[in-house]
Amino acid sequence: MKKASLVILISGNGSNLQVILDACQSGLLKADVTAVISNRQDAYGLVRARNAGVPAILKHADKRVDRKEFDSELAELVDGYHPDLIILAGWMRILTIAFIRRFPQRIINLHPALPGTFPGVHAIERAFDAYQRGEITQTGVMVHYVPDEGVDIGPVITRQVVPIYPSDTIDDLEERVHVCEHELLIETIQKLVGQMEEGHA
Ligand code: GAR
Repeated sequence: MKKASLVILISGNGSNLQVILDACQSGLLKADVTAVISNRQDAYGLVRARNAGVPAILKHADKRVDRKEFDSELAELVDGYHPDLIILAGWMRILTIAFIRRFPQRIINLHPALPGTFPGVHAIERAFDAYQRGEITQTGVMVHYVPDEGVDIGPVITRQVVPIYPSDTIDDLEERVHVCEHELLIETIQKLVGQMEEGHA
């Protein structure tokens, strides 16, 4: 059977991209990363993609770019790779509804917090601060479908609680959340690819 095609959208470091590349390489994931697209030139994830021999594409966007136009071009680009899944792995731009409707049930987003908490940027830092104020006792990670323009919200596919301890520094918590998301993301893709295989059987 043909391997699943994964297109990964990134804006930064790409540590989550790296675990996906490694899992495809080792055979843990029966999938291929067919393209990595970044909206930022300085995203280290582009280097990771190139090192893995995967097309690394810069689709640069600054604040003057028209969202509709940008997303229409992005959709054409993405569609050219026939993705079974489009994975937002640290993609820090809100996709327009026109883009989202073109790929129904195929866009998933990783967010370093539990469903309904700390949407947007700096989620781990905000969870850490909320813990210090006694407002929460734990945080987590989730992967969800992207059904509309809502930020870090949508039908949850998987989630995992991450504990916070009184002795934690922000670095400790960040490290624990990143370890968790690297595991959860692979587990989630495995699950979705498995479902696709069953659907094709
Ligand atoms: C990850 O922590 C991801 O969950 C987060 O961006 C980081 C990217 O790290 N995404 C969001 O905050 C989405 N709102 P990476 O570039 O090292 O994979």
